[in-house]
Amino acid sequence: MSEKRYGPTTITPNFYQLGMHSYPAYLSMGDDGMLIEGGTGATFAIIVEQIKELGINPERIKYLALTHTHPDHIGAIPQLKKLWPHLKVVGSAVAKQMLQREEAVGEFLQIDHSITEILIIKNDISEWPAEFENPTFDVDFVVDMVVGEGDKLDLGSGIVWNVYETPGHAPCHISLYEEKEGTLAIGDVTGFYVSEKNAFWPNYFQSLETYCNSIRKLSAIPAKRGALGHNGMVDGQMDKYFAKAMKATEAFHMDILERLDKGENPEKISIDKTKLVYLLTNLQPFASMQNLTKLLIRRSQQAADKENLFVIP
Ligand SMILES: [Fe+2]
Repeated sequence: MSEKRYGPTTITPNFYQLGMHSYPAYLSMGDDGMLIEGGTGATFAIIVEQIKELGINPERIKYLALTHTHPDHIGAIPQLKKLWPHLKVVGSAVAKQMLQREEAVGEFLQIDHSITEILIIKNDISEWPAEFENPTFDVDFVVDMVVGEGDKLDLGSGIVWNVYETPGHAPCHISLYEEKEGTLAIGDVTGFYVSEKNAFWPNYFQSLETYCNSIRKLSAIPAKRGALGHNGMVDGQMDKYFAKAMKATEAFHMDILERLDKGENPEKISIDKTKLVYLLTNLQPFASMQNLTKLLIRRSQQAADKENLFVIP
C-alpha cells in the first residue's frame, strides 16, 4: 500500500488498532493473541503488514473473533486463514450458520468488491488487493469455535475476554469485554458512528427492540473505552456515548414514524434519509444504502407500538 500508509495504533499495552479508520480490526495480546473483526479484502494486506511492524509473531495469534458476519466484517478471513492456518475463527452459533449458507460467499464477494472499488476511488488504497479477481476459498470460510453469552476467551497474563450476545444490528452479533484493561469491542451494536461529526446512522437492521436492548446491555458494563466496527475507538465516558447512541436511534425512528403518520410516501422518506446518511458515510453505493434505509423504515413500522424502547436506567 504505497501512497497512503496505515500504521498500527497502540491503544493500551495489550491492545492495538489495525486496518484503516473506516474498516478497523483490533489485536489483543496476552500470552496468546486475538484479532477482533475479520477485515475486508482490501484491509487484509494492511493488517498483515501492521502485525509485522508491531514485531508480533503471528504464531502467537490464536483467535480471530467475529463480532458479526456482515460482508464488511469478514473479508480478510479467507486470506488470513490461508496465511496463518492455525488461526481459529470465533463467532456465535448464528454466525456459524450464516457463513454456511450457500449464498454467503456470493453475497460477500459482491459487497467486498464494491468496498474495494470505493476505497480505490477515494484513494484510501492505491493498489488493488492481490486476490481481487480470483479470490480463493480453498480454506474454510467458517466459524471454527462457537461462543455464546457468558463464555470467556482467556489469552493469558490476565487478559480475558467475556462474550455478550448483542443482536439487533445482526442476529449473529456478539460483543466482547476485557475487564483488566476495560476494553469493550462493541462492533456495530451502536450503528455507524462518525466521531468527527458526532453523528450516528442507527443500524437496527434486524429489530429495533433487540437493537435497543443490546445498547442497554453494553451500557451497563463499566468499560473505559470502546472499539467500534467502523471508525475506530471511543475513549472514555462510555455512558455518555451509549446515551448518545440511544438518543440518535430514537430521533431517527421517531422522525420516520412522524413522516409516515403524515402520509408521506416511504420511498420519498428513504431517499431523504439516504441522502443524509450518505453525507456521513459514502462507503457503499447509494442504491445499497437506500435498500438499508428502506429496511430501517420497515423495522420502525414493526416497532411502532413498543414502549420504553430507549430508556437507559
Ligand atoms: Fe454490520
